Amino acid sequence: AVRASHIVYPELQSLEAEQVDETSRPMYYKGLYHLFYQYNPKGAVWGNIVWAHSVSTDLIDWTALDPAVYPSKPFDVNGCWSGSATVLPSGVPALMYTGIDPNKHQVQNVAYPKNLSDPFLREWVKPGYNPVIAPDGGVNASAFRDPTTAWYGPDGHWRLLVGSKVDHKGLAVLYRSRDFKRWVRAHHPFHSGLTGMWECPDFFPVAVAGAGRRHHRRGVDTAELRDKAVAEEVKYVLKVSLDLTRYEYYTVGTYDHATDRYNPDAGFQDNDYGLRYDYGDFYASKSFYDPVKRRRILWGWANESDTVPDDRKKGWAGIQAIPRKLWLSPGGRQLIQWPVEEIKVLRGKHVSVTDKVVKGGEYLEVTGFKSVQSDVEAAFEIKDLSKAEEFNPAWLTDPQALCKKRGSAVNGEVGPFGLWVLADADLTERTAVFFRVFRTNTSKHVVLMCNDPTRSSFESQIYRPTFAGFVNVDIAKTKKIALRTLIDHSVVESFGGGGRTCILTRVYPKKAIGDAAHLFVFNHGEAEIKVTNLDAWELKTPKMNVPQQ
Ligand code: FRU
Repeated sequence: AVRASHIVYPELQSLEAEQVDETSRPMYYKGLYHLFYQYNPKGAVWGNIVWAHSVSTDLIDWTALDPAVYPSKPFDVNGCWSGSATVLPSGVPALMYTGIDPNKHQVQNVAYPKNLSDPFLREWVKPGYNPVIAPDGGVNASAFRDPTTAWYGPDGHWRLLVGSKVDHKGLAVLYRSRDFKRWVRAHHPFHSGLTGMWECPDFFPVAVAGAGRRHHRRGVDTAELRDKAVAEEVKYVLKVSLDLTRYEYYTVGTYDHATDRYNPDAGFQDNDYGLRYDYGDFYASKSFYDPVKRRRILWGWANESDTVPDDRKKGWAGIQAIPRKLWLSPGGRQLIQWPVEEIKVLRGKHVSVTDKVVKGGEYLEVTGFKSVQSDVEAAFEIKDLSKAEEFNPAWLTDPQALCKKRGSAVNGEVGPFGLWVLADADLTERTAVFFRVFRTNTSKHVVLMCNDPTRSSFESQIYRPTFAGFVNVDIAKTKKIALRTLIDHSVVESFGGGGRTCILTRVYPKKAIGDAAHLFVFNHGEAEIKVTNLDAWELKTPKMNVPQQ
């Protein structure tokens, strides 16, 4: 039974959905977290898209309800694509989503709960005045989708963004409304970039660290922006999902309420050289404000990287990653992400390793627990950084290429060291999550974090991309680097440097499954490392996709 006293509604997507695609929108409302996600009721491939709906009291156990929004009207007859929820000041949630009309045009529609006293909000009504935003005035009708959560300006007008493109230019188009019904396009785009189509834009405030603002980890609701004092004490994040590369980039910047334009701070780029939430398989994410714990939660979708016949065979494709709490780093230079604390309720058997030296070329197994579904937190100390390999500044733009060249099997000086996860006992299958430390000619250090799945599976048809990002930590000072990895059969989700760099990867081992999945620490660098502490917990299985009785 689901306790109905709080609900969160931003667009959540779900954990293992029987089928497919990515996020639509999570939110919290009267005691429940609601996840709406893109779903194909007819199979494990993309198509026939509806908004499937799941609810949870704790972000861990999920109850599946019937689809909330599905094609039923001319303005969405060909599909109900991504969108967002906004909880209006009256407490009533509104869903804004992209409908595909009879001409295959992308239009924006609104839907409201049929019965506000149903905590599950099972039924949604689409007013006859839909679509509320049509692709007119020169907008590209086949690239006009994924409305954001709306926010309310000091002038009493709602605003929201719709993702679009003109030629190669990605756009976040701004619309304003007084009544959530008639929406008018702003003359200027809110922001744009030469990156191709912007899917699933997300725009939200984050608290700034500093004097008098010690609570920078707390989330800020867009609704709080009505308070001028709050609006002046925050920064803003704009995230876009790039259709061309299937990666997400974000910038941190300022939002000018008078001109309704967003300006990334110096140093941030919304293109292939910019910052990513996750350097792996993580797309179409959405964030929402959780009023229960006053935090912003980011939820992303990880597609399969096995073959379509495999997906059809297993009957589902696509998962929601573990929800992550998200906040701005104290220096304001990046976002930090950490698995929501609720995940700890799943922790079971615990093992630990302390102060264990791993010399160059050595490895050790972490025994005494089942790692196939586990949570591993480790800290590695490096005594001597002096011999770190020299860093070529040209590598800065492409950590992934660097990691491919210097994968886990290429011996180095300081690193590669880290974990082999989902490994069989003979280490013939294994996925490496590791660090490699370099030295620049100005004696600064650069920490590379990689996920190398090239030996993850005997199955040769599987796509096995190496993923990597740099970790912004001062390793010369701390001499330490932390790694947390959540392992879940086909999912390896890693948080480096306390959540500064995240990499999610999908792997499909054939031997290293169930109790035959092992965990090791390895060091292929000359310099010795010390595992100052490693704590690992088995994770219990949450209740997921349980149909409602
Ligand atoms: C993102 C996306 C969205 C679209 C939805 C369709 O992967 O393409 O732009 O609304 O999926 O399912």
